[in-house]
Amino acid sequence: MGRGVFIALEGIDGSGTSSQRTALATALRGRGHEVLETYEPSSGSIGRLARSRLATDAVPLDRRALALLFAADRLDHVATEIEPALATGTVVLSDRYLMSSWVYQALDCDPQWVREINRFAPWPDLTFVLDVGAAEAMRRVAGRAGTEEIYETTPLQERLAAGYAGFARDPSLARVQRIDGSRSMAEVTALLLDACIAAGL
Ligand code: TYD
Repeated sequence: MGRGVFIALEGIDGSGTSSQRTALATALRGRGHEVLETYEPSSGSIGRLARSRLATDAVPLDRRALALLFAADRLDHVATEIEPALATGTVVLSDRYLMSSWVYQALDCDPQWVREINRFAPWPDLTFVLDVGAAEAMRRVAGRAGTEEIYETTPLQERLAAGYAGFARDPSLARVQRIDGSRSMAEVTALLLDACIAAGL
């Protein structure tokens, strides 16, 4: 059995990574692939701890400590979920991964240090950056239930969008594609599926 393919979905809050994770997984299963849907912060103990400290009403956490939690959660996620699935030939679709730390934690930590603490996280086979304007993305976030989180303000999302845009066109990063996330849900899924098929899935 061949090794699976590791796909990361990235983008600012409200860009649609969670909805597209489910929709793309369904589409890939329809093509006969075994798919593991997963996400970061993960469902593991470190991931749950990180998520609990993202709420605006939580006791604030030092931003470097938060960056370390995301990095620790990632290594745990890779070891316990991602690698074992890839080893059995499963397609792994993660809603957020390494680029989330590069973009979000770079808001208030040294970007080189953020890269360094994530050095052992393997680079995905495919990274899709869902591109949606910050104002539109914040409208989507405001319209859904859930706890308000520390990054969910339009000025911060504008900075995050700029961060993602930079990485999406960085030629030194392998297999990163920008996807127009402002289209309808079904159109975005179709764009993602086309890109997966073009990549050999
Ligand atoms: P998100 O997937 O948006 O969670 P939900 O919409 O279910 O609340 O992720 C939670 C937040 O965590 C989001 O604002 C991005 C942030 N985040 C980081 O800052 N760094 C990371 O490495 C990861 C994985 C997420």
